[in-house]
Amino acid sequence: MLWLKALHIIAMVTWFAGLFYLPRLFVYHAGTRDETSLARFETMERRLFTLMCIGGAATLAAGISMLVIFPAYLSMAWLRVKLLLVGALIIYHFLCFVQMRAFAERRNSHTAAWYRLFNELPSVLLVAIVILAVVKPF
Ligand code: HEM
Repeated sequence: MLWLKALHIIAMVTWFAGLFYLPRLFVYHAGTRDETSLARFETMERRLFTLMCIGGAATLAAGISMLVIFPAYLSMAWLRVKLLLVGALIIYHFLCFVQMRAFAERRNSHTAAWYRLFNELPSVLLVAIVILAVVKPF
């Protein structure tokens, strides 16, 4: 169980590295016009997204394994709320994919300011999920 929890946290940090940095790349990408830089951003975003998928999948796999070993977690309110927020995080991950495809197909319509705002969402989710998992307020 403790090994799974360690893996869960390591994978979560990897996932968040991408969830924080990919939208940051979008901020700079949105203001870029020259072909060399556009191609470089597209490659960086694709590679970072692959890493994010591995981190996300490992976080979910370790989390779900802990629930399988100890199903009583599911009766705890903090875990149910946490799972709701994890659902929001998965939607955010998918939205990052949608934006990445739009950039790759050269049809992005959002401004750098829009991506700055978009970039704030994972911080809010991280704070809420970690407080729920560690403090377990209810
Ligand atoms: C399917 C998704 C997830 C499931 C099923 C899940 C489940 C769990 C379970 C069962 C524990 C053990 C709780 C304990 O022993 O007290 C745990 C711990 C933890 N989870 Fe998750 N989790 C998921 C996603 C996440 C995500 C996305 C994050 C971060 C944003 C996260 C952060 C943590 C942290 C920091 C701990 C350690 C809590 C502690 O030991 O005090 N989890 N998770």
